[in-house]
Amino acid sequence: MYTQRDHQSLKTRNSFGIEATARHYVEFETAADLQAFFAARPDPQEPYYVLSGGNNVLFTEDYPGTILHPVSRGITLLDRTDDRVVVRVAGGEEWDDFVHWAVVNGYGGVENLSLIPGYVGAAPVQNIGAYGAEAAQTIRDVEVYLPQRNEVQRLDRSACRFAYRDSLFKGELKGKAIILSVTFELSLHPTFNLGYGDLKARVEASGEVTLARVREAVMAIRREKLPDPAILGNAGSFFKNPVVPLSVAETLRQTYPDLPIYSVDATHVKLAAGWLIDRCGWKGRRQGAVGVHDRQALVLVNYGGATGRQVMELARAIQQDVRQRFGVEIDTEVNVL
Ligand code: EPU
Repeated sequence: MYTQRDHQSLKTRNSFGIEATARHYVEFETAADLQAFFAARPDPQEPYYVLSGGNNVLFTEDYPGTILHPVSRGITLLDRTDDRVVVRVAGGEEWDDFVHWAVVNGYGGVENLSLIPGYVGAAPVQNIGAYGAEAAQTIRDVEVYLPQRNEVQRLDRSACRFAYRDSLFKGELKGKAIILSVTFELSLHPTFNLGYGDLKARVEASGEVTLARVREAVMAIRREKLPDPAILGNAGSFFKNPVVPLSVAETLRQTYPDLPIYSVDATHVKLAAGWLIDRCGWKGRRQGAVGVHDRQALVLVNYGGATGRQVMELARAIQQDVRQRFGVEIDTEVNVL
């Protein structure tokens, strides 16, 4: 059964720590709960939004509809061969609890994604990524409930159309699919992915390369650069790294030889939004209750009592500066509601 409350404060339910109220707040566990909720709701036109960990959202006003919050738990081993395991994880599990479980059991593939805040069900939506890895590399399928069809479907990896911080769940199925569980394929003979920055040097400094040591190193790097939302409200990277034509990057490099560039395909590259924002002088700058983090310019922070609108004003000022100085558009990574 699902539970419903009215006029629920969301302040402790979003990592930015922004005050906002949801008209209705529903906790669900299973597809049957969702079926029952959608069958019973008096106004079918009322909007709904799935809020899991609340780590990638900015509320700019009260939510006029129903917030759906998953409370499902569980990791199930579905299959095991000599090389790999297949595990199904409930959407309501904490992502980092799953990564910890995988590392402890010797299952490779998600260790570079250690300490990313949020729930497993949110991982496919924006295809979470860090330190050279993306969730999509290990996802086998995603189980969703589709309210419009009152149907449960399993979408395999190719159907999910994963790309850099993108998927079908942010495109065609935006607002139309509620993720119930995610099935992963993890390796029993992991190939370590240590190409990012000084990750390799850090891991090797602690001894032979193991899953646990990769996890430890990633956790240490994150703790150095990224603010803990429990202390300083934030939603991780506020902007996506912009993907631009190679020619644009080549022209910029003539003026800025140290511009970081990451290859995407034959004709496109990704720029580091954090670097662009930093170069515009925003790093560590504070504007009232909001500001730009002093160790990673991609992260906007709430010093306490900020409104979502104040965060957006800051974001727009940053976008405008980056546009004027570099001629590059940076889009928000966070979902603005
Ligand atoms: N940089 C600066 N100044 C800054 C920030 C970055 O000059 O203030 C430069 C760095 O020196 C580096 C480059 O920009 O040359 C890239 O920076 P970094 O390695 O910190 O990674 P990022 O591209 O800024 C992305 C993800 C992070 C993830 C890191 C590590 C996005 C939007 N963000 O950041 O993800 O942890 O890579 O892999 O892709 C998140 O999504 O919430 C998040 C934290």
